Formats: sequence, structure tokens, C-alpha cells
Amino acid sequence: MNDSTPLLLKALNKEKLDIPPIWYMRQAGRYMPEYRVVRSKFKNFLDMCKNPEVCCELALQPINAFNLDAAILFSDILTIPDAFGLGVEFIENEGPVFNNPIESIDDINNLIPFDPDSLSYVYEAVTNIKDALPKNIPLIGFCGSPWTLAAYSIEGRSSKDFNKTINFIKKYKDESHFFLSRLSDACFLYLRKQVQAGVDVIQIFDSWANILNNQELNELSFNYIKSLIFALKNDPITANIPIILFARDPKCNSDALIETSADCISLYWSMNDFCLESAKGLTALQGNLNPKILLESKEIIKKEVHEILKKFKDFPGYIFNLGHGLTPDINPEMVKYLTEIVREY
Ligand code: CP3
Repeated sequence: MNDSTPLLLKALNKEKLDIPPIWYMRQAGRYMPEYRVVRSKFKNFLDMCKNPEVCCELALQPINAFNLDAAILFSDILTIPDAFGLGVEFIENEGPVFNNPIESIDDINNLIPFDPDSLSYVYEAVTNIKDALPKNIPLIGFCGSPWTLAAYSIEGRSSKDFNKTINFIKKYKDESHFFLSRLSDACFLYLRKQVQAGVDVIQIFDSWANILNNQELNELSFNYIKSLIFALKNDPITANIPIILFARDPKCNSDALIETSADCISLYWSMNDFCLESAKGLTALQGNLNPKILLESKEIIKKEVHEILKKFKDFPGYIFNLGHGLTPDINPEMVKYLTEIVREY
């Protein structure tokens, strides 16, 4: 890769760099006053996501504020269940609520076919963001993992343990697998359209990997992520697009994550036993500052950041990020400070 290649793409190509590229999960969001101004004009969060001009403005806010090395599409992972007709709404202080969750075998068998064109508002947002971004800043597109989308669709809302989902899957095993494969196919078509519209990188969010034991994780989540990555790598449109996999606190060893064939593993903040040696040359790594550290003093932030940077200093292909998303209680000043000390190190 040559000198003008963006840092993020160099790192995803497993190059060792002096200064890592920096971006943050949930870099656009409620912790930013300028986000809250725009957000206050919409009652429903999804209505805001359906407005490509507004998505463009929101995706650029953190780039302008902190001079980051990548932008992420402003949208949500729940656009796919919404396109399947499950009626996704975001309720204040509650999160997502589904008006028509998956509650029976019939609900799965009667699902409407996924039409990727019904999410054209997302691809329009991609085009707008690409046009507005400086040429050297790549744009990350994304989707939820099939498992994470299934969990929300069956549970019908956020939950600590997703008990309803686990019971449903135990009771209706074959149908649940059928649903997971329908979601995988939808993710593939959706990501391919995002790539056609201009995204440079893809991130898959397996945000509910943490509730599965090792065997379930492979059977219900990683199997589908693997086939999704295989499909993307074997399609001429998406073959060269690097794929980042974020799994929240997965109950598995480092090899299981590497074997998904993702180009980069995004480490959850508690994953400090991940084996760097076994990942070398096989995947890039991203992470993994605990976002809660940003609520501490500058001294503590600096100490924690230096520890992480020291650990990944010689790793070929490292991207600085958090171990999960920025939360609304974080002061943007600290995000600015964080970005500065990573670049100064
Ligand atoms: O900069 C960005 O990352 C913005 C784009 C983005 C959003 N959601 C916007 C958003 C991305 C990449 C997501 C991914 C997403 N959405 C995930 C995976 C990442 C993760 O946190 O593990 C998940 C699980 C969701 C589902 C979701 N969206 C929930 C559970 C909620 C409500 C609770 C919460 O965390 O805010 C959302 C709402 C949401 N998505 C907001 C934003 C900015 C806040 C909505 C608001 O302003 O009211």
C-alpha cells in the first residue's frame, strides 16, 4: 500500500504503523451536544435514520470534532428486522421495542422476503457521507450479526439474559436455524448494497455474543458469521472489502475468533487474555479501552491508554478503539484528550 493509503486500510492490511488509526464505536451519539440538537427534532430515532441528509450530518460530527481516521455510517443494526416487517420502535429510556416480534413457528414461516431495496435510505446515506467526507477518510458500513438480530427479533426488546430467546431456540431448533439463515442472507445483500454505495470497510456487530456458552456461540452465532464472511469474500463486489468483527465478551478462545476469517477482530474491553501471538499475520486487531475509563481523570486515562499502546506497539495491524461504544455520560472533552494522547504516544 502506498503513502496516500488511509491509515485504517493499512492497519487492516496488517501493516505495522508508528501511529495507529483511531475511531470509536458509537462515535456519533448522545454524548455530543451537536448530536442532541439534531436528535431533538425527531420523535422516533428510526425516522432520523431514514433521513439520508441528517445521517450524513451526524456521521460527520465526530470527524469534525476530533479529526478521526474513519467515519462510520450513521444508522442502526435494527434496520434489517424493521425491513422484515417486525415493526421496530425506539422508546426513550427503554431502547428498541418490536411491535411484531417473532413468537411462533408461523411467524418465521410467514416472514416476508427481505428486499434489500427497501433499505435504500441507508445506501443514500452512504453516498451522501462519502461525498461529504475528505477523500482520505474511509467510511465503515455495518450490520448486526445474524444471532444478535435474531435475539432482538425474538425477545422483542433489549434484555439482560434474553431468556425468552434462548427458550424459543431450544424449543424450535430447526425453525430458529432457518430464521438465522434468512437473516444471514439479508445481511449479505444489505452489506453488498452498502459497498456498492461506497463503504470502504465493513464491521459486523455481534453485540449479544456474551449470553451464549461456547457450544451455542459456535452453533448459533459464529457459524452464520463465517458463512456471511465467506459469501462476502466470494462475491466480486465485496471480495476486497476488509471485514471487522466485534463480539461482545464471547465465551471462546482466540482461535475461534480468528477462524471466522474476519480481517480484524475488535476486542471487547475485558478481553485481555486474547493471544496476540496466534493472531499475528492472520488478523488485524482493534480495541480495547474500557469506555468507563473516560469517566475518570486525565491521569488515569493516560495510564490506561499507555498500557494498551505498549501492548499493541509491535502488533502488525492495530487500530485504536474502545472495547465497546461511547456512552451518553462521557464528556466530549475526554474523547478529544484521548485522541490527542494516542497520537502523541
Ligand atoms: O457512531 C455510531 O456508531 C452511530 C451508528 C450506530 C448506532 N447504532 C446509532 C445509535 C451504530 C453502529 C449502532 C449499532 C448498534 N445498534 C448496535 C451494535 C453496537 C453495540 O452497542 O453493541 C446495537 C446493539 C444497536 C441497537 C440499539 N440501537 C440499541 C439497543 C439502542 C438503544 C440503547 C442505546 O444503546 O442507545 C439503539 C439506539 C441508537 N443507535 C442510538 C444511536 C446514536 C441512540 C438513540 C437516541 O439518540 O435516542
